Amino acid sequence: MSRHRIAVIAGDGIGQEVMPAAIDCLDLLADLHGLDFDWHHLDWGSDYYRAHGRMLPVDGLDVLAEHDAIFLGAVGVPDIPDVETLWGLLIPIRRRFEQYINLRPVKTLPGVRSPLADSGPIDLVVVRENNEGEYSEIGGRMNRGLAEELAVQESVFTRRGVERVARYAARLAAGRNGRLTSATKSNGIVHTMPFWDEVVREVLADFTDVELRSELIDALAASLVLHPGRYDVIVASNLFGDILSDLAGAITGSIGSAPSANLNPERRHPSMFEPVHGSAPDIAGQGVANPIGQIWSGAMMLDALGHPAAAGHLVAAFEATLAQGVRTRDLGGDASTTAFAETVRRNIEEQYGEHAGTGDGSES
Ligand code: NAI
Ligand code: MG
Repeated sequence: MSRHRIAVIAGDGIGQEVMPAAIDCLDLLADLHGLDFDWHHLDWGSDYYRAHGRMLPVDGLDVLAEHDAIFLGAVGVPDIPDVETLWGLLIPIRRRFEQYINLRPVKTLPGVRSPLADSGPIDLVVVRENNEGEYSEIGGRMNRGLAEELAVQESVFTRRGVERVARYAARLAAGRNGRLTSATKSNGIVHTMPFWDEVVREVLADFTDVELRSELIDALAASLVLHPGRYDVIVASNLFGDILSDLAGAITGSIGSAPSANLNPERRHPSMFEPVHGSAPDIAGQGVANPIGQIWSGAMMLDALGHPAAAGHLVAAFEATLAQGVRTRDLGGDASTTAFAETVRRNIEEQYGEHAGTGDGSES
């Protein structure tokens, strides 16, 4: 029996709806695969902020450090500035736990139509640098409210930071199709982006089996819409990766289905798994949110915890659910969040024969 202590932050809005749906599926999988999840629910988020003036307790990061992984829903509400929710919770977690890889797989799902007329199958991974780059605290504002008002924000790129994300992406590409695209803008951003290009090229010299292409971010965005099938692994800075992964998620159908992992690849600290979408205040409380992004993030968590067979079982079960025509509203169906999750659970049980006996539970 493999036991994992997981910190759960369901957070705000639809986070409160998709999280229980995913946990129900994971608990059933755990029973079948000889795993044991010890869920530690933390009521951090915007309600906590209203009561305490901060998104998480003073010792919150120390509490998280005691866990094998962090499973997050979404944070953000209309009446609290997003900068508080993001910099008060998500970014401190990503930085303190050196989750420098943000992995965002993007894949065509059964029966889910792409908004592109003729996209063909899409199966790619965006590897976003998650600790530095354009998301920096260095800078400031002056002359507030005056005609001379100005704002400066510095981007920060370090050799260590670029090397490690490039290396991770290259390894991933080597295990897939051997094609790596690096997002750049070295024609307009004349210091950091040429540096990014140089370091990525240096790292890739060690990977003779990986073909590297550098593409300017604007052309890459257009090309991703026109020819998504050409891409396999895309490595990008924090900002470019954020934008590209939303775009890539959207062209496969719905942002509600897109998962992500914030990884500390050395496993010195817990990694964090969360859907790409936010708290969706426009549909919160209606029971119609698509739980796939959360469930799929749960599969990425299983994988990272050393249970690839259980992860594959979970992905197969939600894909089967879609293939059976059970879909939430954003995917053109009328299933509720709980009805969708119920069908995933039924498929987990039905597919058990195909995914059993893999020895997952005892392998770690
Ligand atoms: P959003 O992702 O919450 O919503 C964008 C659109 O997609 C909305 O129309 C929403 O209804 C729809 N949508 C999103 N997830 C869905 C799902 N699972 N099923 C069905 N439809 C879904 O992004 P938005 O509106 O820009 O942000 C809302 C709040 O969420 C903001 O406070 C923002 O800061 C926060 N946010 C938090 C994130 C996080 O916790 N990691 C990530 C992105 C936004
Ligand atoms: Mg985003």
